[in-house]
Amino acid sequence: MYTPLAKEKFDSLTKKANEGGPITILAIETSCDETAVSVVKDGRQILSNVIASQIDIHQKFGGVVPEVASRNHTLAINSCIEKAILDARVDITEIDAIAVTYGAGLLGALLVGISSAKALAYTLKIPLIKVNHIEAHICANFIEYKDLTPPFLAVVASGGHTNLYEVEDYNKYVPIGGTTDDALGEAFDKVARLLGLPYPGGPEIEKLAKTGQATIKFFKNPKASFNKDLSLSYSGLKTAVVNYINNARQRGEKLAVNDICASFTKQAVDMLVDTAIYAVKNRGIKNIALAGGVASNSYLREKLIHEAEKIGAKVFIPPSILCTDNASMIASRAYFSILSGENIADLTLNAKANLCYNA
Ligand code: KG4
Ligand code: ZN
Repeated sequence: MYTPLAKEKFDSLTKKANEGGPITILAIETSCDETAVSVVKDGRQILSNVIASQIDIHQKFGGVVPEVASRNHTLAINSCIEKAILDARVDITEIDAIAVTYGAGLLGALLVGISSAKALAYTLKIPLIKVNHIEAHICANFIEYKDLTPPFLAVVASGGHTNLYEVEDYNKYVPIGGTTDDALGEAFDKVARLLGLPYPGGPEIEKLAKTGQATIKFFKNPKASFNKDLSLSYSGLKTAVVNYINNARQRGEKLAVNDICASFTKQAVDMLVDTAIYAVKNRGIKNIALAGGVASNSYLREKLIHEAEKIGAKVFIPPSILCTDNASMIASRAYFSILSGENIADLTLNAKANLCYNA
């Protein structure tokens, strides 16, 4: 069951978007530990970007506790919605559609955002649009780079995902590779935890890596730096680092933490960069867009730009605030759905913990 008049309004929004807009979307993102609400015009112009982070709350547990995340979303969501509308300086009646992340993510956390989005869409009698979180990460690039157009290769590296997509069109995100086990951000977080560093581990490892030497070889016989089927694996590297640290501790050796951080970063990131460069060369793609929380990592940014330059490819990287979870990227993804008349949701919309392409 659609919200009242939603289908007719959605069709007229599609028409309006194709005639040049303007389309104003309020988007909600609650898939993990950020309660985020944004108002975005025409998919690329941020009017407000409110993010209530729960990092401080989860830090004492060393990682995100799903039930705690859900409870804190319920506490934060209404004030985030209010602030997003106030910051955007729009009247609530100017909002054309509500967008919401329906997956992938933590089920209870997602349901908080979905319930609020349904309530808003129902009362305002405007369409509800469902958004795939991973595709939305890629759309952060459309916000930052107004002239970026498909086709391009997207490399999404976050706490939950490490995937390569061939973005054929604004609405066609074809998965072509990625991790078969841990995500890159997850590996950063796990290594950091073992070293006694706070959550989230990625930024902490980055800080220490800056003054370390990447000289430690965690594998005796390292494998090829990429697989031709574009698959990646981080659990082997993570285990090798864990063994290295535990062995050193058992021998009573002082850990060269900065060198461990630099060496882990280099090996983990090089795998991703080598895979991306192989994909680009193999498929004749010219542009690479980076996305997801790990895209904030300066070694990843520099290495990818350096390697891409060698083969004449161009790299796009959003600013950190748009790399980590935010709702502006959700609004952007929803705008392109409106443009092509896809992904309208009804009031039966449910959360999905795992999400394959177009699931
Ligand atoms: O995209 P994101 O905010 O949330 C998910 O959708 O997962 O990504 C969070 C992940 C965490 O694993 C965090 O440690 C990692 O991104 N991260 C980083 C950096 N900043 C965040 N990893 C490496 N270097 C960073 N500078
Ligand atoms: Zn994310």
